[in-house]
Amino acid sequence: MHTRVLTGITTTGTPHLGNYVGAIRPALAASRRDDVDAFYFMADYHALIKSSDAARIERSRLEIAATWLAAGLDPERVTFYRQSDIPEIPELAWFLTCIASKGMLNRAHAYKAAVDRNLETGEDADAGVTAGLYLYPVLMAADILAFDANQVPVGRDQIQHIEMARDLAQRFNHLHDHEFFVLPEALIEEQVATLPGLDGRKMSKSYDNTIPLFAGGSKALRAAIMRIVTDSRLPGEPKDPDDCALFTIYRAFADTAETAAFRQALLDGISWGDAKQALYERVEADVAPMRERYAAFMADPPAIEAILQQGAHKARAIATPKIAALRAVLGLNAFHAATVPSGRRQPQAVRPGKLPRFASFRDTDGSFRFRLLSTQGEELLLSMAFAEPKAAGALQQRLKTLGATAAVWQRRPLAVALELDGQVVACTPEYANAAARDDASRRLREALDQLAARA
Ligand code: TRP
Repeated sequence: MHTRVLTGITTTGTPHLGNYVGAIRPALAASRRDDVDAFYFMADYHALIKSSDAARIERSRLEIAATWLAAGLDPERVTFYRQSDIPEIPELAWFLTCIASKGMLNRAHAYKAAVDRNLETGEDADAGVTAGLYLYPVLMAADILAFDANQVPVGRDQIQHIEMARDLAQRFNHLHDHEFFVLPEALIEEQVATLPGLDGRKMSKSYDNTIPLFAGGSKALRAAIMRIVTDSRLPGEPKDPDDCALFTIYRAFADTAETAAFRQALLDGISWGDAKQALYERVEADVAPMRERYAAFMADPPAIEAILQQGAHKARAIATPKIAALRAVLGLNAFHAATVPSGRRQPQAVRPGKLPRFASFRDTDGSFRFRLLSTQGEELLLSMAFAEPKAAGALQQRLKTLGATAAVWQRRPLAVALELDGQVVACTPEYANAAARDDASRRLREALDQLAARA
């Protein structure tokens, strides 16, 4: 079974060395694992909460996309997209807003910190607080829940947001008496290095102590490394590797043997100037080839755009049917013949013929299969063959309750296959042409949503 790992990157800054080591590199390593299905996206709607500087957001989105691609993100493996290309996210955010308790949002760290600052300075508690900041955790929950993410790699400061996403998922599932949403978990990677910045504190944009990853080229990288604060020990005096920002950064790039050699050099009294030069050379060896790719991407925004559009397409193949099923559950269905005017949902038993149904059969080789038939009796879907009738039954049961929700659609030349948990479980018949296939697949989705809504 695949674990879906999803994380967002707020597009307000320019990536620095700390972002690379702390977030980008481990995320890309995770994306290469066979048991991981990675969803990485640019949280540009979140960026709007922090900044109204359009030029800055635009530049940051491009730089961040180019950085991830240059660092080795494989868009075939990773679903890589912009939040603002997925209209289902703000739609879901609204559904969640309507069940989010105000008390929970009052307790969100970022909002509480803003209120505390206001109270300290004698201001009105909510001075300068936008509804966007207040609802930040709801939008983030929508990012996560729209894609059934299992694990969300984040910094410690974001754990509370993941808990709120879980809370909202649970609340929704409970209200509608169905497991619509997967409950996500925060993934805190303990072994991942937190890099110190120029002044020895954690490298962070807010401390203005960062070492740029690509910006300014090798020159700027070297200049920043030369500015790292050290103590006043002279050349020849031993230096303590365990209390030394240079060593911590070096170790984050070097292998064990290189690290041991650098440790020894410090103990042997290498000058700070030489130590910084060695650090620069080690970091540059990793960064230089990426920087070249970065420059190539930055020079070709349409190439990045095409990659992101493809990512949005893949992402929406999941989010669109999911939101459609939620709309049905919430009473936002399109009107059709069976729509009940009284506002009271017609019990299924009263109109048994009005739902799509499953028809099980035994294949010539003895295996168990079933078809999904529309209300008109059209074959919409044929299941794979199962050795056990129980397995076929379990799949039927799941399709009945999940609707189109958790399905991934694989478009084939003349058919559409249905994927669940990374496996093709059923397929439509072959149609005469792509248009007929698309029409039929619309009827199929409707049928699944209809079943889910009545389950
Ligand atoms: N709030 C996250 C941060 O500042 C960014 C983010 C937005 C995010 N949506 C997300 C992270 C969804 C994980 C999942 O770091």
